[in-house]
Amino acid sequence: MALDNLRQFIAAIDAGGDLARVEHTVSVDKEITEIADRCMKSPGGGPALLFTRPTLPGGAPSQLPVAVNLFGSEKRMALALGVACLDDIGARIAELLNLKVPDSLLGKLAMLPRLAEVAKFPPKSVSGRPPCQTMVHKGGEVDLSRLPVPICWPEDGGPYITLGGVITRDPRTGIRNVGMYRVQVLGKDTLAMHWQRHKVGASHWREMAQRAETMPVAIALGGDPASVYAASAPLPPTIDEYLFAGFLRGEPVRLAKAVTSDLEVPAEAEVVIEGFVDPREELVLEGPFGDHTGFYSLADYYPKVHVTAITMREDPLWPHTIVGRPPMEDYYLGHATERIFLPLLKLTLPEIVDLHMPAEGIFHNLVLVSIDKQYPGHAYKVMNGLWGQGLMSLAKVIVVLDKDVNVRDPKEAWWVALNHIDPERDVRFTMGPIDVLDHSSRGFTFGSKMGIDATRKWKEEGFAREWPNKIVMDEATKKRVDAMWKELGID
Ligand SMILES: Cc1cc2nc3c(=O)[nH]c(=O)nc-3n(C[C@H](O)[C@H](O)[C@H](O)COP(=O)(O)O)c2cc1C
Repeated sequence: MALDNLRQFIAAIDAGGDLARVEHTVSVDKEITEIADRCMKSPGGGPALLFTRPTLPGGAPSQLPVAVNLFGSEKRMALALGVACLDDIGARIAELLNLKVPDSLLGKLAMLPRLAEVAKFPPKSVSGRPPCQTMVHKGGEVDLSRLPVPICWPEDGGPYITLGGVITRDPRTGIRNVGMYRVQVLGKDTLAMHWQRHKVGASHWREMAQRAETMPVAIALGGDPASVYAASAPLPPTIDEYLFAGFLRGEPVRLAKAVTSDLEVPAEAEVVIEGFVDPREELVLEGPFGDHTGFYSLADYYPKVHVTAITMREDPLWPHTIVGRPPMEDYYLGHATERIFLPLLKLTLPEIVDLHMPAEGIFHNLVLVSIDKQYPGHAYKVMNGLWGQGLMSLAKVIVVLDKDVNVRDPKEAWWVALNHIDPERDVRFTMGPIDVLDHSSRGFTFGSKMGIDATRKWKEEGFAREWPNKIVMDEATKKRVDAMWKELGID
């Protein structure tokens, strides 16, 4: 059975002995960050945290507990998505993409269960009052300052909603998008929406601006854990995140109509903030914000959201994450994406054996990729191919290695890469779009990229010398030493 909401997820984490309940009063003003940061830096990601008595910036007690680091370990990420190992999901996707129509009747019959599975994915609309609308505050009753929205870091521009799924709709196709974008609280009923220019929410907003139409927006806090994760996944704009979450869960996501717009929101959310952006209105200053690069992202201008309603379930809790110097909880969300999307990348680049984005590279700064090299220049074909795929286009450095290198171990990858390269020959620079959070590029979101061909060089690539073997002890010697090890008196 899939987990339907965050309380079920937290109960499952607790049952696994992975939840720390903090009963002490803790302020949402930076104290939660300091505690969560210390936990997230511990090996394996630290426990999930449930702050049962958080206090608001003025010192008043919060009505809502705050949950942090729910997704911050490989084990909890797999639990959120209902699998033992994240690679299992990639395998399921690969199998689905292999759906060939069989010629025999028996083969066709054998396909039926898989097709029935596909029918389970689309979200379902519920009728009646959904759990997330047990309490409804509309119009003048809206007051964001009553929510425990944390102030994360000392130089932050204000309190930030960090684990919300921002729901918008493409005015051309009607397809929904859900993106995990940070949202700054500006006042009682106003927010600043930090959807970066490369993201789908921002493209919906540009389209609405061209049409000079008001754009409904909803921000879902909580819901089933697969949906929370799906908002962070780099899906193509044509795929609804709740459809993808239904695939991950093996059960549809239940949606309900918002109370002040015609968007649909997750019925099982803890809190939903509904509102609109008027693209004709002036942008507002958003930030600075202590970001997942480990540096502050500078203040910039983003759209203002006018909040029209806040709806909640009974006894809601506030899901939150912090970002900052890696590793943080978002490494595990990104790691799930890396594992789940690998088979999709392999569809267009089948020579890829494995790929890894280490925590210190914060996803877009460093991609280590191993390939089954088949011809001269193959490494360049792969790096160019990666730079041509969706958000991979933002990758700053791509290192290509041979298939025998374990790229999931960055120490091994760098050891081999640094041995294998003649920098002037094997490093290439190119230009392209750069992540909004990059503070070093020559222009905002535009700059250079570096590709490193760290594969063994071939004669046809102009390498005339002999390439040496990696040092590995022979099996016979290892066995002899194994047999005498205990008698050596070393352990
Ligand atoms: C914790 C967290 C915070 C994020 N904050 C932002 C943000 O403020 N703005 C943004 O554009 N992307 C942010 N992202 C990345 C997006 O969620 C990610 O790129 C996602 O694929 C965007 O969805 P979209 O492709 O539907 O636009 C964040 C990711 C995580 C895990």
